[in-house]
Amino acid sequence: MSKISEMTREKWIMSTFPEWGTWLVEDIESAVVPEGNVSMWWLGCTGIWFKTPDNTNITIDLWCGNGKRTHGDGKMKVGHQMANMCGARAMQPNLRNVPFVIDPFAFKHVDAVLATHYHQDHMSAEWAAHVLHSGMTTTDGDGNEIPVPFIGPQKSVDTWVNWGVPRERCTVVKPGDVIKIKKDIEIVCLDSFDRTCIVTTDSTGPDREELTGKCPTDMDEKAVNYLIKTPGGNIYHSGDSHFSIYFAKHGKDHDIDVAFGSFGENPIGMQDKMTSIDILRMAENLQCKVVIPIHWDVWTNFQADQEEIKLLYDFKKDRNEYKFHPFFWQVGGKYTYPQDKDKIYYHHRRGFEDCFEAPQNIPFRSCL
Ligand SMILES: [Fe+2]
Repeated sequence: MSKISEMTREKWIMSTFPEWGTWLVEDIESAVVPEGNVSMWWLGCTGIWFKTPDNTNITIDLWCGNGKRTHGDGKMKVGHQMANMCGARAMQPNLRNVPFVIDPFAFKHVDAVLATHYHQDHMSAEWAAHVLHSGMTTTDGDGNEIPVPFIGPQKSVDTWVNWGVPRERCTVVKPGDVIKIKKDIEIVCLDSFDRTCIVTTDSTGPDREELTGKCPTDMDEKAVNYLIKTPGGNIYHSGDSHFSIYFAKHGKDHDIDVAFGSFGENPIGMQDKMTSIDILRMAENLQCKVVIPIHWDVWTNFQADQEEIKLLYDFKKDRNEYKFHPFFWQVGGKYTYPQDKDKIYYHHRRGFEDCFEAPQNIPFRSCL
């Protein structure tokens, strides 16, 4: 038998995907978070893994899917939220633009699974299945062992329950709710400003609910933002919120250290992601110290260049006396706050730290 004769499509898929295998899972599980810090890993889109010095781990919007994989009939569903929004019918060419950096089935432990809302790129049946089937448990504030909870707004919980997550494992949250995870994370639920959620209907087919002339549906049932209070600071996850002046109220009500915002270049006729100026305005309104654009990575048709934020930031920071700065992350990267608070750009580890510590094998030193 030769390599060629044994090769199959299945072998290729199993040996190639997920692209990073368990590399990042190993990194996250072995990481020791320094006292007074919180470590975060960007899993793509708005998926973030949080870890504290006490080894409390939570995920927000962990998602394991992709976008279009075939042209099909070239049409989008008439009740898709984007079709509802702008009346388009041609298929949206949203292909996944970044590699897959985790293997959800390889994780051994998490303390809570959270979702900001129920759009497909923010929840994962794969992750839910693994958390359930592996029997993961955590502890409540009093140290009692409990099953790992699934936490989200009503529509997210409905989605989990539809997938087969027992309802008693789920906690429905709305703005104003406060949830404690183990001893060192407290989650404050806040208003979402994801207006794409407002035009999302239960059915995506021709029988979709008629929204014309109707008062907007209740955002609080569909989406929330989260403030994650950790030993390293308060981290604001805005889900897929659009820009809102009410960020200013959240900034007045809470001390916010780091804020994540969903950034993207909206195609013509579309209003779904915050633009560069929205990201700066969000940071200014929230009075955060660091703003981190996310979500820009994942869709080919919404891809945006973070440098645009840097350009505008440099243009406006002195005039507007910005008290924050941006941090430009990469998918699969780690950010520890406040340890990394002065960093502007993330770069993956470059390696070769031990160069010239073992014997070389070269003809002459002059080769170097
Ligand atoms: Fe999204």
